[in-house]
Amino acid sequence: MKINGLVVVTGGTSGIGLALVGLLARARTRVLTCSRHREQLDTLMRLHPGVEGRVVNVGDPAAVDHFAREAANAPGLVGLINNAAGQDNLSLAD
Ligand SMILES: NC(=O)c1ccc[n+]([C@@H]2O[C@H](COP(=O)([O-])OP(=O)(O)OC[C@H]3O[C@@H](n4cnc5c(N)ncnc54)[C@H](OP(=O)(O)O)[C@@H]3O)[C@@H](O)[C@H]2O)c1
Repeated sequence: MKINGLVVVTGGTSGIGLALVGLLARARTRVLTCSRHREQLDTLMRLHPGVEGRVVNVGDPAAVDHFAREAANAPGLVGLINNAAGQDNLSLAD
């Protein structure tokens, strides 16, 4: 099912996020995604021309703010799937 508009998926280069990005892209829904590694984002964008990728560490508030502003100002934003929790460096207590 095609979703008309732009869906933001954080952490779209592997695992659950990549599966979601693939489903959306194959349905010709535009996607804005992020991860920490440029090379994986470039590979993803080559595979799916409707996908835009940005290097963002979701543990970095300034980077998240910048990415969120881009998403909010992009035409047709209809959804956010916050898949990358960015909890790699947190202890269980955190
Ligand atoms: N798989 C499961 O069984 C399971 C179960 C419960 C909860 N979860 C949660 O679901 C989410 C996805 O799981 P997954 O197994 O699909 O993970 P995954 O295969 O490790 O994929 C994580 C994605 O998020 C990106 N990412 C990781 N840390 C990031 C950060 N700090 N900033 C930006 N992007 C980041 C990764 O790219 P880069 O590494 O290039 O940044 C990758 O694109 C995680 O939050 C996980 O804790 C998963």
